[in-house]
Amino acid sequence: MEDTSELDIRLVPSHIAIIMDGNGRWAEERRRPRLAGHKAGVDSVRAVVETAREIGVRHLTLYAFSTENWQRPKAEVKGLMALLRTYLEAELRTMLTNDIRLFCLGQRERLPRDVLAVLEQVMRETAHCRAMTLNLALSYGGRNEMIRAIRKMAVKCKDGQFDPEDLSEEILAEHLDTAGQPDPDLLIRTGGEHRLSNFLLWQVSYAELYFTETKWPDFRKQQLLEAVATYGRRQRRFGKTGAQVRGE
Ligand code: IPE
Ligand code: IPE
Ligand code: MG
Repeated sequence: MEDTSELDIRLVPSHIAIIMDGNGRWAEERRRPRLAGHKAGVDSVRAVVETAREIGVRHLTLYAFSTENWQRPKAEVKGLMALLRTYLEAELRTMLTNDIRLFCLGQRERLPRDVLAVLEQVMRETAHCRAMTLNLALSYGGRNEMIRAIRKMAVKCKDGQFDPEDLSEEILAEHLDTAGQPDPDLLIRTGGEHRLSNFLLWQVSYAELYFTETKWPDFRKQQLLEAVATYGRRQRRFGKTGAQVRGE
């Protein structure tokens, strides 16, 4: 697909989640340091955010740093954090212009203090934006998110705010970091691996999965449009029969 004019807006997912993988291998192929791959990956983030906004995606969730990624070499973690900070500082103006709200999923208090300060500033300044929510999953793990949600609910049960009997899927969802946001319709993973790596475990239960060999630094506008077009050709049945879904 060359441009966005032929996209059927009804077939655009309202929430896209992306596991941005393959930066390191992209760099290694070019005999460059892994950080060069992460740097090139930031340009993909810009392109994908811009395209998602352009085609009318309402929620875009990017897996930028997992709870497990803290185990990487110190220098790589440091480089990633520096890139994150630069990205946030540079993008604030664009987010405001494009009416994009920045939100964060994960244990952001584990981030270095300077990064956290910029992150919270951008979240505050874009809090009124409505066209699209950009969720950055930072120090994020799906299991960790669920444990934090369960803890919050346990405290409320103990305080008598509700009864364990009243717990429901809706109440659990309201205690996750994604509270108030719809579940992803489409989950994309770049870089050729076929796994979830602890990403949005609860929320992706009915997402359409799209795996591509393309490494994240090579995933730009055309690649996103291709993924969205593929999504548009799928039939989501949610347990029903094809005939039921077609309204026959
Ligand atoms: C994804 O790329 C970025 C992060 C996990 C932060 P990787 O750094 O995992 O790249 P590969 O998988 O080693 O190629
Ligand atoms: C998943 O990528 C995390 C992010 C994209 C931030 P990883 O490269 O860390 O995943 P694994 O370790 O290969 O499963
Ligand atoms: Mg990886």
